[in-house]
Amino acid sequence: MACVRQASRSSRWRLLRSRFEDEGWIVGIQHRGCWYSRLAGKDEVADLSEFPPERIRNFSIIAHIDHGKSTLADRLLELTGTIKKGHGQPQYLDKLQVERERGITVKAQTATMFYKNVLKSNSAEAGVISPKYDYLLNLIDTPGHVDFSYEVSRSLAACQGALLVVDAAQGVQAQTVANFYLAFESNLTILPVINKIDQPTADPERVKAQLKSLFDLNPDDVLLTSAKTGQGLEHVLPAVIERIPSPSGKRDSPLRMLLLDSYYDEYKGVICHVAVVDGCLHKGDKITSSATGQVYEIFDVGIMHPELTPTGVLFTGQVGYVVSGMRSTKEARVGDTLHHAKSSVEPLRGFKPAKHMVFSGLYPADGSDFDALNAAIEKLTCNDASVSVAKETSTALGIGFRCGFLGLLHMDVFHQRLEQEYGAHVISTVPTVPYIFEYSDGSKINVQNPAALSSSPGKRIVACWEPSVIATVIIPSEYVGAVITLCSERRGEQLEYSFIDSQRVLMKYRLPLREIVVDFYDQLKSITSGYASFDYEDSEYQKSDLVKLDILLNGQPVDAMATIVHNLKAQRLGRELVEKLKKVIDRQMFEITIQAAIGSKVVARETLSAMRKNVLAKCYGGDITRKKKLLEKQKEGKKRMKRVGSVDIPQEAFHELMKVS
Ligand code: GTP
Repeated sequence: MACVRQASRSSRWRLLRSRFEDEGWIVGIQHRGCWYSRLAGKDEVADLSEFPPERIRNFSIIAHIDHGKSTLADRLLELTGTIKKGHGQPQYLDKLQVERERGITVKAQTATMFYKNVLKSNSAEAGVISPKYDYLLNLIDTPGHVDFSYEVSRSLAACQGALLVVDAAQGVQAQTVANFYLAFESNLTILPVINKIDQPTADPERVKAQLKSLFDLNPDDVLLTSAKTGQGLEHVLPAVIERIPSPSGKRDSPLRMLLLDSYYDEYKGVICHVAVVDGCLHKGDKITSSATGQVYEIFDVGIMHPELTPTGVLFTGQVGYVVSGMRSTKEARVGDTLHHAKSSVEPLRGFKPAKHMVFSGLYPADGSDFDALNAAIEKLTCNDASVSVAKETSTALGIGFRCGFLGLLHMDVFHQRLEQEYGAHVISTVPTVPYIFEYSDGSKINVQNPAALSSSPGKRIVACWEPSVIATVIIPSEYVGAVITLCSERRGEQLEYSFIDSQRVLMKYRLPLREIVVDFYDQLKSITSGYASFDYEDSEYQKSDLVKLDILLNGQPVDAMATIVHNLKAQRLGRELVEKLKKVIDRQMFEITIQAAIGSKVVARETLSAMRKNVLAKCYGGDITRKKKLLEKQKEGKKRMKRVGSVDIPQEAFHELMKVS
């Protein structure tokens, strides 16, 4: 009998863990700070050799944010007995603390389910003993937010089909469109599911019509479900089996595995999630990475059922995990092909590299913690291969890292995970998008850090380009005017305008990436009373009129606060930035001037007056000469500090700067 336990980390548990493992029990650990342990007898897992590719289905659940993917995944896990009903942990596959706190999925999660087709077994011929389970199903729950679409695209590589979940009341949203095309371009079979049909405002017929007009999906093929009440769920898995093709690999071919994802475990090193495309893998096998040529021994292999469950073997078409002594992301490369060391194979197609939309500096809040931050980033990037990391130095903040993210939410989640899972305290600099600048000598540079941009009389900047995106916005028609105004303020160019039904409009805009990364989505939500949905894909670089805006404190430029902005917006932005800084920097013993400047031209200025310490507090009585002497001494001290320019910048100053667009 399986039981799920959540235990706090303690040395007692560490001891217990090794004892359980020695006795052949299974202990799965999800992430630091929180242990979800599942103890199961060995006999509980079906024999994987009984599942040739024809009896395997790999599918993912894709949808717009909050349309019910994780809840539907919960119900399917319960239906197949993979987790207990009423396990007390809604959205079971959202395992990270950040996912539970924010109520969103940020990591794709795989779970293997064993399924008995009850209808089929009832009609089985008398005398024929049907196997315990008919099918092995691998389900991948994916994130919905646009910043995590890289997770979705990687998950789809392990699948042959996808459940496209759409909210029965909200209908098709921007992410539904994006996810449909991701799955469609990956040649997956798409099973449309209209979820939340229990809601009073549900209108499945309208949503069916949208699916037909936008994606040409047959209304008769649409499944109607409520992941909340359980209505219609019994039809989902039979439809998966009937309509989604089985994986096409061959068991007798040499082993080829696709490395889908990885995470760092303190005890086992890197745990890799893999899809076996051809052949089979056994514990003890020697495997090679196509990318690095390194050879590893398989110490442990198994499935996620739904926690790590050792099976000692994985066959063609199956998705599981392997532990092979890899220690870092340099070894565990997502998209890599793993094969038997003795055979040579054609590498699999792998994944497109992640496209970084936003860059920001990450520095330890306490300069002496650099090594700890380095180790934390190394471990976390194992679980988030889409972040790029390079060392950099700032005069204001010391040694740190320049990291590339897929968007601002992704950046925020990465910071939160660093703090929650690894206890790292970080300061991050103003996010920037990657620009291209051309100098008068014909050379071009890619600028991911505004501080690195310099200009001299002999090497002037003559041209610059900024990245743009094609944004899709879906809104009720009454908000069209407000959205058009917002997009034009953000330097947008309308590309498409169409009705998806009688009430909803789909608009496509080309927008500079810089204009959407900070607060575009918040503004869009607020002007449309939360009804707008938004998605974007990257597009080409466009020529632009850009300038570097420096922030100076007492005349000294603070490199970590420099930003690149459009010339027309520079003055307004400079004013907003200095006003924000004036509010968050504490008054000090000397006057502080806060300036925003473009080159040598100051475009905004604020002064933070000095805090005068009451040096006369201890002077009782009226000796005026003594009082004067003390005040003179104080003035002298202030001058000295002003000259040194030692302004204390609080951490919130960097956070506040991020909110200014
Ligand atoms: P992300 O992972 O953040 O993209 O969200 P998701 O698509 O996984 O949605 P999730 O399963 O987290 O559900 C979002 C909200 O909808 C939760 O509050 C669920 O309880 C609710 N919900 C999910 N399915 C149903 C349903 O069938 N009916 C109703 N009424 N609510 C549902």
